[in-house]
Amino acid sequence: MKYGYFDDINHEYVITNPKTPSPWANYLGDPNYGAIISNNAGGYSFVKSGANGRILRYYFNSFDEPGRYIYIQDNKTKDFFSTSWGPVHKDLKKYKTECRHGLAYTSFNSSYKSIYTKTTYYVPLNSEYEIWYLEVTNKSKETKKLNITGYAEFTNNSNYEHDMVNLQYSLFISKTQYKDNMIIQTTDGNLEKLRPNDVSHRFFGLINSKVNSYTGDKEKFLGPYRNYSNPIGIEKGKLDNELNYCMNSCGALNTIITLKPKQTKKLAFVLGMKKASEAKKIMASYKDIEVVNKELKDLKSYWLAKLENFKVKTPSKEFNSMINTWHSYNCFITFIWSRAASLIYCGLRNGYGYRDTVQDIQGVIHLDPKAAKERISFMLSAQVNNGAGLPLVKYTHNPGHEDKPGDESYNKETGHPEYRADDAMWLFPTVYKYIGETGDIKYLDEIILYSNEGKDSVYNHLKKAIEFTENNIGKHNLPVGLHADWNDCLRLGKLGESTFLAFQYYYALNIMEEFAKEKNDEAYLKHIKKVKEKLDEELNKCFKDNRFIRGYKEDGTIIGDPKDKEANIWLNPQSFAVISGFADHKRSTKALNLVHSRLNTKYGAKLMDPPYFAHAFPGALQTTYNQGIKENGSIFNQAQGWLILAESLLGRGNRAFEYYKESSPAYQNENGQIRVMEPYCYGQFTESEKSLHFGRSHVHWLTGTASTIMVGVVEGILGMRPDIYGLRIAPSIPSSWKKLEIDKVFRNKKLHIRIINSNNKESGYKEVYLNKVKLQDNYINEKDLKENNEILYVM
Ligand code: GLC
Repeated sequence: MKYGYFDDINHEYVITNPKTPSPWANYLGDPNYGAIISNNAGGYSFVKSGANGRILRYYFNSFDEPGRYIYIQDNKTKDFFSTSWGPVHKDLKKYKTECRHGLAYTSFNSSYKSIYTKTTYYVPLNSEYEIWYLEVTNKSKETKKLNITGYAEFTNNSNYEHDMVNLQYSLFISKTQYKDNMIIQTTDGNLEKLRPNDVSHRFFGLINSKVNSYTGDKEKFLGPYRNYSNPIGIEKGKLDNELNYCMNSCGALNTIITLKPKQTKKLAFVLGMKKASEAKKIMASYKDIEVVNKELKDLKSYWLAKLENFKVKTPSKEFNSMINTWHSYNCFITFIWSRAASLIYCGLRNGYGYRDTVQDIQGVIHLDPKAAKERISFMLSAQVNNGAGLPLVKYTHNPGHEDKPGDESYNKETGHPEYRADDAMWLFPTVYKYIGETGDIKYLDEIILYSNEGKDSVYNHLKKAIEFTENNIGKHNLPVGLHADWNDCLRLGKLGESTFLAFQYYYALNIMEEFAKEKNDEAYLKHIKKVKEKLDEELNKCFKDNRFIRGYKEDGTIIGDPKDKEANIWLNPQSFAVISGFADHKRSTKALNLVHSRLNTKYGAKLMDPPYFAHAFPGALQTTYNQGIKENGSIFNQAQGWLILAESLLGRGNRAFEYYKESSPAYQNENGQIRVMEPYCYGQFTESEKSLHFGRSHVHWLTGTASTIMVGVVEGILGMRPDIYGLRIAPSIPSSWKKLEIDKVFRNKKLHIRIINSNNKESGYKEVYLNKVKLQDNYINEKDLKENNEILYVM
């Protein structure tokens, strides 16, 4: 079933049926002031942390309530509706609506009985508050008197848990007042004189219309035994001017307007966490309501500029919508928001996960290398001087002065008592991709602090990461898994070994080899050669019955043994055997063919199979999940990205695209009732056939899937493979694609790449031209580039 469509021209996803199978969300602002909004205006807002800086209440495990509601009542008939379909849920035969999720804004166009509304929600650039902008038009033939009411449900404590479960405390610190067209709420307001920093101030104000009545008390607004669809205050058409003293605060502001036929009125609600004096200034800055339209224009230009560096035109509409807008936007959202907050996680974690963050960077390097570099340096400054990454990098990260796993203070604050084996390994492809994209090889010489003490060049930071792995090698000469490798559910400890990690290590050594050559570091080159030889020998022993095993348990037995009853084939070692450059063509093909026959489904390949149930080993923590779910044999979407890349590296464009299509949100647009999740953003995993809900997807927006599939697409399918000196072009596309075009900014030069495939190939080239000059092969040296370049790639 289809609930909406992609409006590529406006970079919007338009939801035409508001009864989506789950709340379909969008992100506004950034975590300094963050807001999540669904297609029925559900969602919440916070300052800095979804868990500790909450302004708006939202009930998890409920269906999308409450939200940023605007009610409109016809003063004569008393009939009322909301400007988004929810919460009032008018009969859709009479109530027409569409929700347009755009780049950091969401608009609702609705109409009911000749009253047309357009409501746009956004956070102005560089601001810490949000705007709900309403244009209401009377398209009837008679003059209408309308009661318009905005409703915001404040939390009673910035700490989400206290607000939700500790009512014997949080109810009694909250109060509201009404002043200057605003409801002002304070929590812990009594401490104003004694401990002013502990007071939280929130405001909800109305711009460009006079408040007629108000309520600062949630129960008074709703009325007993009612809900958001029929608040007493709305039914009566007048709020009771009651304020809250203890109990639940809210901001409800009502205004009455008179609209002649064809007349439009513009007004806006503003919400934020600011003292009354600051709030008043903010409100005053909108004296001219048209400021709103300027802000919206600026916001759109800002976001469009972020998408400018990479655009495609291919025969696949879905692919184009994702790459030119939604997938790239998703990558920026994960890059900016990390795992801060969503509609299924309130962001309790007080920092950045190391591997997630280093991976997220990979999704935006081709779009915004400058921002990527800044974040890479930040993550290098969160590397401990033993070479490992800090499992959790606190939001208050202070390089050079941090505690680390094993220190009691760190364990207590972060809940991470041990290192994870893979964290720092993700630095290698990320740093390499950054240097490839920019040519900034000097970056290797930049000096960056370690998280605890000391400092080093980027090059030496990377050597340290290698050293950490070297110091954690097991009996079979493979790296041990410690608290986890990429798979958070594999606790292999100090004895169990991981082939996935071993391939990452191999990949890292290859990258270091290139860097060491640049630096004429002969001694290190020798060292790498030796280590790789040993690793080669061991990894060769890990190929059994057409697949690479997943590793060794602490007792030395095999994980992913073809003879095992459960989990006898795992996806990641197969794709990483190829990506790392370890597996030769024969083994790569065999392993990936087995993946296709054993793990592929119509929604992508499973992480392993069969899921654990009765035969798991103690370190296999995924056994806790239902079969076919999450790490226990679901279609783990991040892993699709590596598979797409691996198939592309083998030149099997049809396969690569088959996996792309299966896991692409846009390709599921007609399948909303099965996918459940939004068709315009990625999720962490999709339930596999073992589940009762095969195809249902979860953990929207903030997931490593976005960046990893982006790499699979950009480097893999589209074949943009930069190295230190230039760009290799090696697309692996569906053989049915006759042509495609890529516009890419590369090292500040513009490339327009045309790929012609008249012979229905999947990969490979016949000839390649740069500015009409035929090249020797498919490699473009940076020094041959002009400001604007025409590249023709004939397959
Ligand atoms: C989740 C975690 C990520 C981990 C993955 C596999 O997506 O955020 O860090 O690698 O699960 O366990």
